[in-house]
Amino acid sequence: MKIIIINGPNLNLLGKRENDIYGDETFQDFFERLQEKFPQVSLSHFQSNVEGELINAIQEVGFSYDGIILNAAAYTHTSVGIGDAVKAITTPVVEVHISNTFAREEYRHTSYIAPNTKGIILGFGLQSYELAVQSFLAKN
Ligand code: DQA
Repeated sequence: MKIIIINGPNLNLLGKRENDIYGDETFQDFFERLQEKFPQVSLSHFQSNVEGELINAIQEVGFSYDGIILNAAAYTHTSVGIGDAVKAITTPVVEVHISNTFAREEYRHTSYIAPNTKGIILGFGLQSYELAVQSFLAKN
C-alpha cells in the first residue's frame, strides 16, 4: 500500500512553531517513528509552502497511490484550487489537522477540501496522521 502525506504551508516549522499548539517534535522525527510503526505501508511525505506545488503533488500521485493524507494547513481555509484538485483525482484523501480547528478562530472552521475527502481527523496532535494511516488500513 502506497500512502503519501502532503503537508502545506508552515508545517516545515513543526518543532519550533507555536509549540503549545503544534508540539515540539519535528515532522521528520515523527515521520521516521510512523514508518517504523507501519512497515507494511510504503509511506512518503512532501511539504510545500506554495499552493501550486501542493496541487502538482496531488495531481502527480492522485491516480496511482492508495491514499493521500493531506494537511493543507492554512490553505485548507482558502484554496478553491486545492479543493478542486482533491475532487479531480481518484486516490482517496483523508484530511488531517494537528489542532482542533473548530476550537480555534472562526476562519479555521471552513474547509474547501473536506467535501471531497473520505473523512477528516483533527485535534489529536501528530497522532492525527497515525489515525489517518490506520483509517486506510481498516477494512470497511
Ligand atoms: C493546521 C490548522 C490550520 O488552521 C493552520 O493554518 C495550520 C495547521 C493544523 O494542522 O492544525 O497551519 O492545519
